[in-house]
Amino acid sequence: MKIIIAKDYEELSEKAFEIMRAVVKEKPDAVLGLATGGTPVGLYKKMVADYLAGGTSYRRVRTVNLDEYVGLTPDNDQSYRYFMRDNLLDHIDVDLANTHIENGVAPDLTAECARYNALLRELPRDIQLLGIGANGHIAFNEPGTPFNSETHVVDLTENTIAMNARFFADEKDVPRRALTMGPKNIMDAKKVLILACGANKAEAVFGLVNGAVTEQLPASILQKHADCVLIADREAAALIGG
Ligand code: PGA
Repeated sequence: MKIIIAKDYEELSEKAFEIMRAVVKEKPDAVLGLATGGTPVGLYKKMVADYLAGGTSYRRVRTVNLDEYVGLTPDNDQSYRYFMRDNLLDHIDVDLANTHIENGVAPDLTAECARYNALLRELPRDIQLLGIGANGHIAFNEPGTPFNSETHVVDLTENTIAMNARFFADEKDVPRRALTMGPKNIMDAKKVLILACGANKAEAVFGLVNGAVTEQLPASILQKHADCVLIADREAAALIGG
């Protein structure tokens, strides 16, 4: 695993942007695996600013997202579809028809997972962006998720519900289930870029880099990925020599 320690969130976002830009420059029709959450927002701002300044075009890019809540329609401002449009997709020249995310209101969630797995096979990702949870989760793969699982329905843990509650008016509004790519789908990406920011991620980052490869810390599977880059700020890197 390649490790980059950034002095602050700004530098983390800049370094992540440089990697993302290089992927699209090398392959203008790249498939980008994208992520939601607080951590990638700075990266997305830089992608938008660069695009608006006449930089990188995303006209031929395809995107696939990691996960989506069950029960939220795309126009719900807490859905991940909405988040992606609001933070990135509506502000660059990507064709929205080429941007994909699980359908959290599909009538048959099992069929929806199968559809998404087939889509991921059709669109091999050149890069998969990830955040990391304080408990070491990646996407909505909580501790205990089998490493060989593909897109599936998950019951969110109390910890994750509590973490996400900051985005909702009331904790009881936070959905209890989600659709998420599994660790196997994540490992299938050609390159993985994982971002970690803040002291509450330090233990998970330690496990990601130095811990045992165990389903109890889903991110630890990335130790086995041939091309994984971790960018951590100093606080998140505190236990790995940041
Ligand atoms: P965050 O979430 O970027 O909002 O910290 C990361 C995650 O839980 O995967």
